[in-house]
Amino acid sequence: MTNSLQVQPLNELTKKLSQQVSLVLGQDVSVDTFEIANPKVGAHLALPCFSFAKQLKRSPADIAADVAQKIPEDSLLQRCGASGPYVNFWLNPDYMVKIVQSVSDTVLKDKSNNGQTVVVEYLSQNLAKPLSIGHLRNLMQGKVIALNYQNQGYKVITDNHVGDWGTVFGMWVVGFKTFSSEEQLRQDGVEELGRVYVQMRQALKAEQDQGSSQLADLVQEWLLKLEDNDQEALEYHKKFSQISLEAGAKQVAELGVVFDHNYGESFFVQRGKQMIGELLESGIARQNDDGSVIVPLDRQGMDTPMLIQKSNGAALYHTSDIATIEWRVQEWNPDIVVYVVGAEQQFHFKQLFAANNIAKWSSAELVHHWYGLIEELDESGKRRKMSSRSNAVYMKDLLDLALQRAQAIAPKGLSVQDIKKIAYGAIFFREFSSNHQGNVLFDWDEMFSLSGYSGPYVQYAAVRIKSILSEAPVGDKHSEVIADHQSEEAAALLWTMLRFQSVVDQAASSREFHPLAGYAYELAKNWNRYYEKHQVIGAGAHQTARLELAKLVLNYLERTLKLIGVEVPSKM
Ligand code: ARG
Repeated sequence: MTNSLQVQPLNELTKKLSQQVSLVLGQDVSVDTFEIANPKVGAHLALPCFSFAKQLKRSPADIAADVAQKIPEDSLLQRCGASGPYVNFWLNPDYMVKIVQSVSDTVLKDKSNNGQTVVVEYLSQNLAKPLSIGHLRNLMQGKVIALNYQNQGYKVITDNHVGDWGTVFGMWVVGFKTFSSEEQLRQDGVEELGRVYVQMRQALKAEQDQGSSQLADLVQEWLLKLEDNDQEALEYHKKFSQISLEAGAKQVAELGVVFDHNYGESFFVQRGKQMIGELLESGIARQNDDGSVIVPLDRQGMDTPMLIQKSNGAALYHTSDIATIEWRVQEWNPDIVVYVVGAEQQFHFKQLFAANNIAKWSSAELVHHWYGLIEELDESGKRRKMSSRSNAVYMKDLLDLALQRAQAIAPKGLSVQDIKKIAYGAIFFREFSSNHQGNVLFDWDEMFSLSGYSGPYVQYAAVRIKSILSEAPVGDKHSEVIADHQSEEAAALLWTMLRFQSVVDQAASSREFHPLAGYAYELAKNWNRYYEKHQVIGAGAHQTARLELAKLVLNYLERTLKLIGVEVPSKM
């Protein structure tokens, strides 16, 4: 992890300070010694003096007091003071505003191409069913991961690795033939496919309970037919996949997601089966007496081998996944592949990645990015997993609920587009309010609260700035502006903006984005505090400087929100 102070423009500031402190102490003080000050102290930067004690033969507190006294207050530094073994530094707001202005054009846009490619695989829905609430977190995580890699200068390729094969497919065909019709399918599309799938599951279970396997055998039969490129099977496959993919694409477009590719599992099965032979030949895989094929993983410290062929010769989930790894190397040669897939598949990916370590299909960093569940409050206010008992089973229903909530807090006559921004903004903000591996609570009141830690709260701050700026637009010239930012409220805002790049970089490298939501909230709150105390329009000679500050805040706010998938409505 890089020190957050090595990031532009904080590195410039620490460089200057370290030169000054070096002079005072008569020895080289590395920029790495500086820290972001504890927010409780209210200072900006801090210098712990422990590391100088030995050489100077003085106590850290003594050194700190000395430094604090001897560092001159100048255009860079408003003041500094010792607190125990620390020197705390308060930067000069008029200096900060110049720096923020000078770096904004750079930090508020994507970094230039870094020559690296990342594949972000997400959604990857099974085409047998309409999108459910289970897909929502996946979508939000995937979208935001992709956005942030792009921001870091990566070439990003998004791939929706749909489940269009395996038992799912067999169940579709048998279910369709048994419980549905062309006409019903035409009428209800993907919903009908979903209904058939559920009915098939029940029928298979009932059959199993009775000890028979007629339907289950049929399912397997169709599976093999598809693997053998049987004409009828291929036609069914094409028809069902298309209906389901189109319905899915329309829904995810609502949330601003468009995939570069939708290569389904079936696309990789043939090659996967070839690879089984190759792996047997090279000794990486082994055939069991019953005909099944495994890749032993004990060399990778895993007892359970990875199964890549069933005893009846059929391919498996892993079979298509190994071919997918190989294919992505040939096609895109990625440096990183992020699989955004639920927590229940952790073992699957552990095995897959271990097998890759042995077979070396890809040298890319392979990451399984999993996430927790969505929870809601039950009638008595207790958390429970959001499920079919809730009002929302399908993703669409959940989004509709959010739209209703947004409507309720929106002013009359707000455009549908803006209402959507509020609705989906609340959901995205909530998604990125906590660690992705924990569960997330969809508490609708909190999510749409205009005074709490919510998307709408932050959006509202941005909308208010927009409305101020629309009253008196500022140009891009800063030259004639008089110094105006000596207040504590202005300093807090400016210090927040100076830290933007470091927060963004840290979030991207850890693929943990709640610090971005926290940052947006901090900025919004600091702006509200500033605005309470400082009139902008009608502030006479101060107006221009304050408008410029407002504009900067808006730009940083919008950019941060964008990186967690939240857009700002035109009005609220
Ligand atoms: N379609 C699978 C499911 O819904 C997820 C696919 C995950 N991706 C992968 N490369 N295996 O469970």
